[in-house]
Amino acid sequence: MSDSPRSLPAGWLAVSVFSSRGLKVGIFAFVSLSLVCFAAFYNPTVFRRPVSPSSYSPWNINSTQLAGENENLTQNHTPAAFSKTSLTKPSNLKIVAVIFYGRPDRVEILDCYLKRNLAVNGGWVDEVYWAPNTKSQDDLDWLDKLVPTSSQYKKLPIDTQKEGYARIWDNAITEPDTLYIKIDDDIVYIDDNAIPKMVSLKLEQDHSFVVSANVVNGAPLSYHHFRTGAIRPYLPEMIKPNSTDDGNVTSVQTPPWRASQLPSWEGPSDFEFPLGVGTSPYPNHRWLPLRDGNRSSIYRTPIQHAPCSPWGETYGKWSLAAQQHFSFFESLEKNETDVYDFARSGIWDMGFERISINFIAIWGRDVIDHLPLNDDEAMLTKSIPRQLSRPVLVATGALASHYSFTSQVNDLRETDILSRYRAYANELICPGTLF
Ligand SMILES: *[C@@H]1O[C@H](CO)[C@@H](O)[C@H](O)[C@H]1NC(C)=O
Ligand SMILES: *[C@@H]1O[C@H](CO)[C@@H](O)[C@H](O)[C@H]1NC(C)=O
Ligand SMILES: *[C@@H]1O[C@H](CO)[C@@H](O)[C@H](O)[C@H]1NC(C)=O
Ligand SMILES: *[C@@H]1O[C@H](CO)[C@@H](O)[C@H](O)[C@H]1NC(C)=O
Ligand SMILES: *[C@@H]1O[C@H](CO)[C@@H](O)[C@H](O)[C@H]1NC(C)=O
Ligand SMILES: *[C@@H]1O[C@H](CO)[C@@H](O)[C@H](O)[C@H]1NC(C)=O
Repeated sequence: MSDSPRSLPAGWLAVSVFSSRGLKVGIFAFVSLSLVCFAAFYNPTVFRRPVSPSSYSPWNINSTQLAGENENLTQNHTPAAFSKTSLTKPSNLKIVAVIFYGRPDRVEILDCYLKRNLAVNGGWVDEVYWAPNTKSQDDLDWLDKLVPTSSQYKKLPIDTQKEGYARIWDNAITEPDTLYIKIDDDIVYIDDNAIPKMVSLKLEQDHSFVVSANVVNGAPLSYHHFRTGAIRPYLPEMIKPNSTDDGNVTSVQTPPWRASQLPSWEGPSDFEFPLGVGTSPYPNHRWLPLRDGNRSSIYRTPIQHAPCSPWGETYGKWSLAAQQHFSFFESLEKNETDVYDFARSGIWDMGFERISINFIAIWGRDVIDHLPLNDDEAMLTKSIPRQLSRPVLVATGALASHYSFTSQVNDLRETDILSRYRAYANELICPGTLF
């Protein structure tokens, strides 16, 4: 029941991206398709992610490599210490993260990353404002327990009886010269460099209206991740494994997150997983890597259906998200998340093309000048940028992961993905605090 905040229109969760606005969005998207696919480049090196030493290529892996050599990489990480970047936070800049809160099972993971990113812990975020976006009393009570856990956390007084994201923006954004980072409550991974890179890009290229993080399972970013080779071939485990062998992996409450511990996918060579909803094979199932070394394997997995213009029929389907998340765990384990940086310069210009606003940076004044934001996503990424000739820029080295769009969530909850993110955070971000 706390699954999605139904008390408000769905635009914030981008459900609207995939539904009724089809015609208007469709025409615009078609006209400017080439803009997003061939957007302009800039070239400051600071926004790029460093290149991984093993320079991953999806077409030359084999199962020996996958299973063996990377198994202990993460033991070298220092848990919970925010890793310093070469970037320096400007003095006198106030950065506030704003979370539209609704779902404790995801927020307990986000909480780890937020605390790690606090300025008091070496990060760049001065304060976190929690904007309640749910009518569930249990979930509101949960928030009341969370807020006192940090003196940098603050709950915004919002009348939950009233409807509309516009009202939340009205209440959350009050200081013109504060840089706000709006983060969806189901962002389940934030790279240490993400916020410093977003903020630095926003300051350096302040003709931009919004700077977005580079979001796994973000629209339309999945397309770029697929076409530049970041996403690896995975398919769902269709038959529940026997509990006597590796069945333990799926039955424990917090499965290990490392992809190297997954068995290889096995099945008929002409198998294709359907794209629809309600197709999950069984509760708490896993997705498994295809380790056949066949360069064509990626084209029999769901991600092949990621379109450049994300408002089409297949976009947002849960299977694309499931594949992206399992593939992302493999990149995390191998310390090769730089494969997601799809722009040579570290900057991708969206022009005036729509992008989901799961994780964005914007000046308080740029919000305040345009209230009320009745259709926040369309206004912040399309209409206002076009009117002002101030584009949305994606900081492609600023990596984060978005669990689920509303259209994906029922099936995704039939996977063990959320427990994998919880296991990752519990091991490396906030050790021993999640169960
Ligand atoms: C991961 O890769 C980065 C560069 O891509 C490097 O600086 C870092 O030391 C690596 N970490 C581990 C644990 O190998
Ligand atoms: C797979 O990779 C390993 C380690 O790099 C190598 O020893 C092995 O020969 C490779 N196997 C094949 C079939 O290419
Ligand atoms: C991985 O770590 C385990 C436990 O620390 C150790 O026994 C094993 O030898 C390590 N494997 C490699 C390949 O280093
Ligand atoms: C699971 O158990 C059944 C019945 O005991 C057996 O026929 C089947 O081969 C087993 N499957 C695997 C993957 O071990
Ligand atoms: C499965 O889990 C049980 C209980 O946690 C454990 O005793 C058993 O050794 C596990 N089996 C395997 C194959 O890991
Ligand atoms: C590789 O996969 C493609 C598509 O699944 C298939 O048609 C082809 O026969 C495979 N090649 C090999 C060498 O197995």
